[in-house]
Order: sequence, then structure tokens, then C-alpha cells
Amino acid sequence: MNTRNIRNFCIIAHIDHGKSTLADRLMEVTQTISSRERKDQLLDSMDIERERGITIKASSVTMKYTLEGREYLLNLIDTPGHVDFSYEVSRALKACEGALLLVDAAQGIEAQTVANFFLALEADLTMIPVINKIDLTTARPEEVSEEIHKTLGLEPREVVRCSAKSGLGVEDVLKAVVERVPPPAGEPDKPLRALVFDSHFDDYRGVIVYVRVFDGALKAGDRIHMLGAGTNHETLEVGIFTPQMVKTGTIETGCVGYFIANIKNIGDVRIGDTVTHRGAEVAPLVGYREPKPMVFCGIYPTYNNEFEFLRSSLEKLHLNDSSFTFEPETSEALGFGFRCGFLGLLHMEIVQERLERESDIDLVQTAPNVTYQILKTGGDLVEIHKPSDLPSEGEIAEFREPIVRVSLIIPSFAIGALMQICTEKRGRYKHTEYISTDRVLLTYDMPLAEIIFDFYDMLKSATRGYGTMDYQLVAFEPGDLVRLRILVGGQEVDALSAIVHQQNAEYVGRNLISRLKKEIPRHLFEVPLQAAIGGKIIARDNIKPLRKNVIAKCYGGDITRKRKLLERQKEGKRRMKQVGNVEIPQKAFLAVLAAYGKSDA
Ligand code: GTP
Repeated sequence: MNTRNIRNFCIIAHIDHGKSTLADRLMEVTQTISSRERKDQLLDSMDIERERGITIKASSVTMKYTLEGREYLLNLIDTPGHVDFSYEVSRALKACEGALLLVDAAQGIEAQTVANFFLALEADLTMIPVINKIDLTTARPEEVSEEIHKTLGLEPREVVRCSAKSGLGVEDVLKAVVERVPPPAGEPDKPLRALVFDSHFDDYRGVIVYVRVFDGALKAGDRIHMLGAGTNHETLEVGIFTPQMVKTGTIETGCVGYFIANIKNIGDVRIGDTVTHRGAEVAPLVGYREPKPMVFCGIYPTYNNEFEFLRSSLEKLHLNDSSFTFEPETSEALGFGFRCGFLGLLHMEIVQERLERESDIDLVQTAPNVTYQILKTGGDLVEIHKPSDLPSEGEIAEFREPIVRVSLIIPSFAIGALMQICTEKRGRYKHTEYISTDRVLLTYDMPLAEIIFDFYDMLKSATRGYGTMDYQLVAFEPGDLVRLRILVGGQEVDALSAIVHQQNAEYVGRNLISRLKKEIPRHLFEVPLQAAIGGKIIARDNIKPLRKNVIAKCYGGDITRKRKLLERQKEGKRRMKQVGNVEIPQKAFLAVLAAYGKSDA
């Protein structure tokens, strides 16, 4: 097909504003799928996505649409809307010329609407503002249109209104795509240049590579070369998504599709790489930044003998989501496990949940921490991902932490409360902007470490659920940071230690000790609990010794009762970790997580 009749576009929006529903409706209106075979939110194919109702991995689909007697090929790339997945969004944007900026008619502009808008603007895309959910009785399209104008500078006359649910206005959306999104600019006669924008792993067929062809065409049987990876392959199958994979034998200039080339390792495929024909001399397409994990935690099997099983489960999951990292680590308290890196907290939760669900393995997770930079006295700059990697105090010239710019969109009644929270979280005020009479965009620079625990919950409760946020890394800055050590029975427990700001150290230390006191059962001897910075103890408490024998109360000779009690104890013991002569239950490690939040004393 002539490239003039091709349109590549994506939908960007805040979470829950209706992207997946609109994608379904577009496929239905273009008869890509029949309503009979429509399963709600077809593009969200992972179970966990459907249950949580959020899109995690982007997918794409090719649709045919006829307008005024001319047939068009519309390639839609679905993108996730959550803050942790913005790298997926930027990846999708590189493969498109246009974007539908979807805004909920009742909610209005939210933090990720703004963040995604700027990503699309940077990628130089034609933006079509679409107000969705106009069927709702609470819809206020006029006001939302004004918000879009005021905040993003898009004219009210450009706004298309629709209801993805009822189908009202959806034809107008398609028309706007054809009329306003420019056709792809590539040249069919030039040597092949295709951008790898995604991939997934199929157990039987190896890596399925998602590409957007910029110049030339990609055909089955082609001998190809990946510029960045420096590898050569031969394509076995080439096709498009409808949204199922359909063999077409070729992907023309300007089009989006997939190829299979018997690649067995997803690590061989770099997202953002350029594909060309072997022997062709071409300049690489501009890729995009690699996702960089910023939040780390330890993941350990509950049962030590499942370490190898955990390793293979992580490897399997990694084939599908290459944005998290993992490397083996050992902890005295927890044994063998892995230090894993994630793009954010939601990403961490999702990976953990997928691991447990897809591999049926019980896990213990340690408190998360962010990436820190240490400028050593010798001048070296190192990154550390866990408290135990910290060099000794004498070697540290500067201790730096990541600072993020946080954009908060909140109802104006919550400004005071939010400002107070941000100040408590060591935030630096940047500015306030009214986006309508009762909604405000508040911007702060804040340490990432302060928002990974409970900031989101605090935002939600201060704004009665209406506040939304987005953040972006701006810099690493020196901070007054210390390593908080926890000692149980006089012995340091590495899995409980943490890096905290001096200002919070005492509070967190006390909070931790009181939680541990509740979680660690009494022993036959006294167990001292201490929180320390360097050699200085900043909080302490004792767990009193147990005096009575547990089975003493089973007087008489009831042997079955006694045995039951001992069995129960044994089961409990299996879930304990031995530190010196003290037994710490797994639950205690999780309790630590909650201890870092200020809101939760
Ligand atoms: P993520 O995939 O999590 O980013 O969300 P999304 O933007 O894809 O939103 P989704 O399509 O899952 O829709 C969110 C909710 O809004 C669902 O309960 C939809 O049924 C509902 N919804 C979507 N479009 C409309 C609409 O036009 N009208 C009404 N009333 N509800 C809608």
C-alpha cells in the first residue's frame, strides 16, 4: 500500500481514562474484530493486566478503514499509562507520527496526561485531544476542553468527543486520525531501516520482534543485521498484528509488524536497535534511552531449597520483561536470594506478583531502597543498590541520592495539606499553576527515597482520592544520609538495615524496634533489640524472656494434644530465620517495610 494511506498512531492517557476500551472500540468499528469475538480489552492480554485493569506491556494492532472511498491502514500501538512504565510510552511514541491524547470527561487532566503529553511533544507527534466518557452523567466536556487549552495549549476546536463505551463519536476519532496524522515519510526504494520497539518471548518460536519499518521493506527469508547488537539473523516469518499475529510475508515502508528469526535469547534483541539487510550501509535510527532501574529490593525464597527454582523463575520472567534486573546476593539472615532492580514501586509489586503467580513460589522481600551514588575520597564515583554495599565512613567524600521532579494534580482544597506533606518529605517547592478554578498543578523537587514508601497513599488520603502524581529523575544531590543498622541479640541483621536521612533516622529506628518487638516471639532468654548509626545506639528495647514451658499447660497425659502443639511449633519454625541464637519470623522482615513511612507510627 502507498505510504500516503498509512497512519501510525498511539493512545496516550492517564491510567483508567479508557485507552484499552477505546482501542477495542476502534477495532470493532474497523471490523478488525467482530463484536461477537470481542473480549473486553483485547490488547491487555496478560491475566494480571485484565484483573488489575491496567496495561503493563504495550501491544499493537493493524486496522483497515475506508474513508470517502479510500482505504487506509491504521497501525495502533497501545501504551501503558502508569508512571513506572513511561519508558514503554516513549518506546511506542518513536514508532508513530500521531497520538490520541485521551482525557476522561469527568476526571479532567491528570498528572500522567501532562507527563505523556510532554513525551509526545518531545517526539514531535501530531496530537489529537480526545475527551472520552461523554456518556457519563458527571461528564463536563466544556470544562475539560478548557483545561486542555489552558494547561497544554491545544485549541478547543481540535478536541474530539467520544464515548469508548457506547461507541458515540468513535467514527470521528478515526476520521481525525486519517485527516490530521501525517502519513509516514520513509522511502520504499532505500535500503531497509526498521526500529525495534518491543519484543516478547514465545516458548516455541523464540523472540518475536516488534518493528516499525522506516525505509525499504522487510520480507520473510531476508538475511538481516542488527546494527546495535552487531548480530546477523535470517527472518523465518514476517507479519502484522490483527491483534493476533498474522503472516503477511512482508512489512512495507511506514508499517508496523513483527518478525521471527529463531532468536532464542531475548537479550540478543535490543529495544531501540535498527534492523537492516546484511551488507547494507545505513545510519542507525535514533533509539531511545535504556530503562534504568531506580528501586531495588532483595527477593528470597521462603524455603532455602527453592533458590535454584527462584533463579529459573526470574530468568523466565525476564524474557518477558527485560526492564527489571536481578543478581544473586546472600544475606546472613535470609540465605541465598537475589537483589532485583525495578523502574518503580508498582513495577516491583507487579514483578513480585507475577513471580508468585506464574511460578507458584513463596517469597520474602526486603525493604526497597533507591540507587545511591557515592563519591569516594579517592575521586571515584560508584553506584550502590543495597545498604551493605556502602563503603566505610572514612571512604565517603559525598553521599548522593536521586532527586525527582514531582508533578501533582490536586483539588485546590488539598493544597495546604499537600504542601505540608511535601515539606515533611524534604521536598523543595517549585511552583503552583491553576489548571481550572478548583484544580491545581503543584510541582516539587523531592528525594525519590521519600516517595517510594507511602507518599502515594498520603496523596490519595489528603485529596480524598482525587490527587494524581507523576515524577521524573532530575539529578543526584548530596544528602545527609546514614546507614541505620539493626542488631538483634547483639548481632547485626543485614536484611533489616537501611539507608535513611539523618533527620528521619531516630524516628525510623524507634519505629523499627517497636515493630520487631511485636513480631519476634519471646525466647527462653532476653533478646535485646538495637538500632545504631555507626557505633552509636539511637534506639533500643528488650524482648522479655519466656519463663514457662509451652507444653507445661498440657497437664495430664494427653499425648495427642502435646504432639499437635509440638507439630505446630515445628511448622512455625520452618518459617523462622536463625540469627545467632534468636529466631526471627519471616513476617518480621516484611514489618520493616511499613516502618519507613512517617504516616504509620
Ligand atoms: P490502563 O490500561 O490501566 O491504563 O487503563 P485504560 O486507560 O486502558 O482504561 P480502561 O480502558 O481499562 O478503562 C477504565 C474504565 O473506564 C473501565 O471500567 C471502562 O469500562 C471505563 N470506560 C472506558 N471508556 C468509557 C466510556 O466511554 N464511558 C464510560 N462510562 N466508561 C468508560
